[in-house]
Amino acid sequence: MSRRSSTDTIRKQHGYEEAERAAAYIASHGFTPRVAITLGSGLDEVVGRLNADVRIPYRLIPHFPGTTVQGHGGTLHLGLWKKVPVAILEGRVHCYEGRAPASVVFPVRVLALAGVQTFIFTCAAGGIASKSTPGGFMIFADHLHLQGMNPLVGVHDPRWGAQFVDLTQAYDPYLRRITRKAARKFRIPCFEGVYASLLGPTYETPAEIRALKGMGADAVGMSTVPEVMVARQLKRRVLAIATISNRAAGLAGKPLSHEEVLVAGRKVSRHLADLLDEVLPQLDKWK
Ligand code: HPA
Repeated sequence: MSRRSSTDTIRKQHGYEEAERAAAYIASHGFTPRVAITLGSGLDEVVGRLNADVRIPYRLIPHFPGTTVQGHGGTLHLGLWKKVPVAILEGRVHCYEGRAPASVVFPVRVLALAGVQTFIFTCAAGGIASKSTPGGFMIFADHLHLQGMNPLVGVHDPRWGAQFVDLTQAYDPYLRRITRKAARKFRIPCFEGVYASLLGPTYETPAEIRALKGMGADAVGMSTVPEVMVARQLKRRVLAIATISNRAAGLAGKPLSHEEVLVAGRKVSRHLADLLDEVLPQLDKWK
């Protein structure tokens, strides 16, 4: 394949027009979501809180990437949650699945075109800071992007926003504040910290965790940051919440497993739903 045609293939699969087609398909269900919630590993129970009128398997949405990971569904739910028009992405694709970065962020771009103003990303993470204990939550205050890729690499399409995106305050201070307050109300263990995003799919080594700690990371995971970057390029508001599913490698004296991550996710799903119950009606800008 020539360089020219491979570039064309990428643009064909993940370009603006394809996102518009996918957004139009979503709009054809007669519902305009204003808030999108992406669910991380094991957190699917949150869907139960949504008064979901519409459930769309990802495979029916034009160009939408299908998921391949156990514990990550593949359904877009549309409905009202506390009167707020919400889209829930149950399942996401990750770079560690070998997916192109543009595929990983495609659902975010589509939902932005479909009307979403606020993105709430959730994910599982390993705890590095001493307060980062399993069962608790970390609200992203900032991140370290260490996946070795960036979804904005490539021919710049100004329809998505600026090429050089400011990430000084990627995580909305107001959304962080109301989430902290909600956690206090429900006595849910929660702190603000720095999320390090690594490529995976291997978990980290104890030496890597020591290095990440030295760099200022409080929790570590394999997702979220690419999606945050494109949401910020589109100037949408972002809140990101990690559920701490385990102490990071070398900190708990036992090996890590995806099963442990899923079990921990299921345990904290209700807490996450409680937090969102409280936060959603306060998103004053969704109207
Ligand atoms: N490391 C990376 N990703 C993760 C972890 C971890 O310890 N736990 C859940 N997701």
